[in-house]
Amino acid sequence: MTFVVFTTFVIYTTWALFQAEYYYAEPYLSPYYSPVLFTDLSQPGAAPLEHAWFGSWPSWWPDFIPSSPAMLILVFPLSFRMSCYYYRKAYYRSFAGSPPGCAVGPLASKKKYRGETFLLLIQNLHRFALYAALAFIFLLGYDAVISFWRYGEFGIGVGSIILCINVVLIAGYTFGCHSLRHLIGGRKDCMSCGKNTAQYEAWKRVSWFNARHMQFAWLSLVWVMVTDLYVRLVAMGKITDLNTW
Ligand code: FES
Repeated sequence: MTFVVFTTFVIYTTWALFQAEYYYAEPYLSPYYSPVLFTDLSQPGAAPLEHAWFGSWPSWWPDFIPSSPAMLILVFPLSFRMSCYYYRKAYYRSFAGSPPGCAVGPLASKKKYRGETFLLLIQNLHRFALYAALAFIFLLGYDAVISFWRYGEFGIGVGSIILCINVVLIAGYTFGCHSLRHLIGGRKDCMSCGKNTAQYEAWKRVSWFNARHMQFAWLSLVWVMVTDLYVRLVAMGKITDLNTW
């Protein structure tokens, strides 16, 4: 199951990354394309100019690379997810069977299991990817809030609900990050020594999310694909967004 769902995610996300079109349907923006740094208005379903932080697509962009805003930002959430301590366990086991369990040696070869060495040392950057991931909660939260305004008029659509669920699941996943838990309190030798402090309270809350990290990991992974697909289908006119507008 891990192999199938994770492979589906990688294939779908790579495909969506290269599309460069149908990622915006007023007022919904696909989370894969948020934030929009530049927009190419010649593409169907592109974000309007006022959504782009730096305006129109730069003329120096090579023609053979699609003018996809997702290419400029997806490295941040993807590096966070791919280097996640939970996912590492999950995909090392399901893709390589090495190690198949915490206390079980590799089955595929008789070689001694050496842990994460050489190129895999790059996984240690996870603690830095966390900072970008925290910023993305605000960015996606902003998208969720403005999804209730269409051409300046307040309302609610199925897309608004989908975008809200997306940011809640991604926040739940990020708040349970092992690096965040360490940052908040895990580096202390004795948390209970500082009971009743704001830090202890924050650590307890992060620990609640941490205990559910796997569940949030899978739910948010599937939901971000659902959100992109929904916005894409609405933008393409394949489905109609039920809403109050
Ligand atoms: S450990 Fe999973 S997101 Fe940090």
